Amino acid sequence: MSNKFSSYVCQNCGSITSQFFGRCMNCKEWNSIIEEKKSSKSNKLTNDFTNMPKSLKEIKVNKISRINSGFKELDRVLGGGFVYGSFVLLGGEPGIGKSTLVLQTAAKISLSKEVLYISAEESLEQVKIRWDRLGQESDALQVLSENNLSNIIQLIKNLKPSLAIIDSIQAINNLEMESASGSVSQVRICSAELQQLAKEYNITILIIGHVTKEGSLAGPKTLEHLVDVVLNFEGDHVASHRLLRGVKNRFGATLELGIFEMQENGLQEVLNSSSTFTSNENVSGLATAITKEGTRCFAVDIQALVSKSFYNNPRRTTTGIHLNRLHQILAVIEKHVGLKLAQYDCYVATAGGFDINDPSSDLGIAISLISSHKDLKPLNNCSFIGELGLNGQVRKTNHLQNRVEESLRLGFTKVMIPKTNNDLSNKYPSINILEVSNINEAIAIVFAE
Ligand code: TYD
Ligand code: MG
Repeated sequence: MSNKFSSYVCQNCGSITSQFFGRCMNCKEWNSIIEEKKSSKSNKLTNDFTNMPKSLKEIKVNKISRINSGFKELDRVLGGGFVYGSFVLLGGEPGIGKSTLVLQTAAKISLSKEVLYISAEESLEQVKIRWDRLGQESDALQVLSENNLSNIIQLIKNLKPSLAIIDSIQAINNLEMESASGSVSQVRICSAELQQLAKEYNITILIIGHVTKEGSLAGPKTLEHLVDVVLNFEGDHVASHRLLRGVKNRFGATLELGIFEMQENGLQEVLNSSSTFTSNENVSGLATAITKEGTRCFAVDIQALVSKSFYNNPRRTTTGIHLNRLHQILAVIEKHVGLKLAQYDCYVATAGGFDINDPSSDLGIAISLISSHKDLKPLNNCSFIGELGLNGQVRKTNHLQNRVEESLRLGFTKVMIPKTNNDLSNKYPSINILEVSNINEAIAIVFAE
């Protein structure tokens, strides 16, 4: 039954209706609508006109002070550490290692600052067991197992730590709301109150959010506008690498990437990241691309398998790159190189499932596909940089010099790049720079032997 104090909110997309439906009209999700009672309080005028607009000239900005997390990789993604009074969201699938990461971070920060770790999901014994496993010795960290929002807020106000961590936002509860913890409205209300607390008391608050299997934080995008920083912790459960991505950052660059490795006794930073994703093998179907994520270059091995198909619709499968990208590269190869791939299954995978979003890895992908199709090894000890245009040209990329330097650092003796106007070989005499303007020129060099 509907009444005028209720609204019905879809827990998947957040859309609001005045009536109950079994299926959301907006996102078409079944059984996602929950009744929310409106509070009887009226929205009184609170402005006593002390809060008046100012010109931007009058506003003074203090230098942003930050808390170093103790992890270089985490600091990089944050843009130099946690900003005081910021509200940070760390998202990731269950079991990926979020609690481990924050507990290790809390341990490091607690050596010099006051840190409060609130576990709403685990008992203090469970936290202690993980703590022992991580081999932490600091005894300054304060821990609490609690899931009532009001208690949490009161405690943070009393203790005034520099950093408060809440693990996880989906497990805490505002008792004034009727919906269960973890529902979109609970998550939204709890986050809004914590955000105010962070600003008002200048306390950095880090919340953890589980990502649903579709890859969205409980109720897509309901939190992202509220927080200052969104970090995503990703990786696959089998492999030990974990990538920490900055998705939003009000105090630094986004799309920064930090790399960790999950070991028996916790997460270790991977500082020399490139060598993790390359093997320096010379086999058919394998090429190394130099991609750029945030401010960093990475060398990533790309493997392709092109084999005769037994299906009416040949298979096209990718790991680590977008399927559309593969389709586009295959179309370019068909049209401009003349390989007939319509009868072939094509699989492409990046080393360690590393996600590549940078189009400059196109050339590497194309070379690995052609190499697998021809069953020929590509040019030995060569890395590939360049975006493929639809008419087969190898297009210029940004940060070319950084990429060449990364190839050099990893010991490649050759690097294939788009044609440039300035001669890079003077600048980098110890690496053989192969400039190409289209895919056919590239093939002629790569498969010359
Ligand atoms: P956890 O931090 O509990 O994940 P989340 O909070 O994201 O749900 O980490 C879970 C996994 O990490 C678990 O499967 C065990 C593994 N792990 C290690 O491999 N080494 C360790 O030292 C720890 C603490 C966990
Ligand atoms: Mg956890």
